Amino acid sequence: MRQPIIAGNWKMNNTIAGTKALLTDLIPLVADAKAEVVVCVPYTDIAAAGEIIKGTNIKLGAENVHWAEKGAFTGEISADMLVELGVEYVVVGHSERRQYFGETDQTVNARVKAALAKGLKPIICVGETLEEREGGLVESVLVRQTTEAFKDIDKSQLENTVIAYEPVWAIGTGKTATAQDANDTIAIIRNTMAELYCKDCAENKVRIQYGGSMNPKNASELMAMPQIDGGLIGGASLKAVDFSQVVKY
Ligand code: 13P
Repeated sequence: MRQPIIAGNWKMNNTIAGTKALLTDLIPLVADAKAEVVVCVPYTDIAAAGEIIKGTNIKLGAENVHWAEKGAFTGEISADMLVELGVEYVVVGHSERRQYFGETDQTVNARVKAALAKGLKPIICVGETLEEREGGLVESVLVRQTTEAFKDIDKSQLENTVIAYEPVWAIGTGKTATAQDANDTIAIIRNTMAELYCKDCAENKVRIQYGGSMNPKNASELMAMPQIDGGLIGGASLKAVDFSQVVKY
């Protein structure tokens, strides 16, 4: 019922030349994928990526979007700018933004609203730090992050949103949540969505990905879990063969 969605988050990797090489290799490898395939690329690579994947099953994504429509925000990128380049998905609230760039639950919510208002589909990242996990705060952190991210977002927009559960301690560390643990934690997020909206909304309209050291070796086990609707892939999305193996888990 919920179509799986596997998205690469390239982070600050690949110039235009690298973008062309990686996508040229990737296109034939994922042409028959059953999952929705997305690549979220740095701003400077978006135009080149869009050209190369035109007419293929790979969809274009960005890694952030500003909440204002336009104005004096030096260095920022608006939703209109992304839409003009054919961007469909945009990562919002990644833990690296929260950790290093002062992203808060409130700014995440503002970015989600700005994205949806222009027809972009936000991939909204939530997840606990190791300290929060060890302190028994997983549920309260996820409920708070999810509730704040979706503040004032109408039910009719849920189909245009994706949530990515990314435990911060599993990102780029080689440590993955066990499939069962990821599944159970994602269930907490889905229950939160059921409470915020409705049971059917949570069951049928919202896709929730897992992210954090997902790779060709662990993808099939993670994707077999009933709550896990896809993945947000960092390191393994930078190699065409690895990413294609995750996509075809
Ligand atoms: P890694 O797959 O490199 O752990 O990164 C996950 C991530 O942060 C995706 O957004």
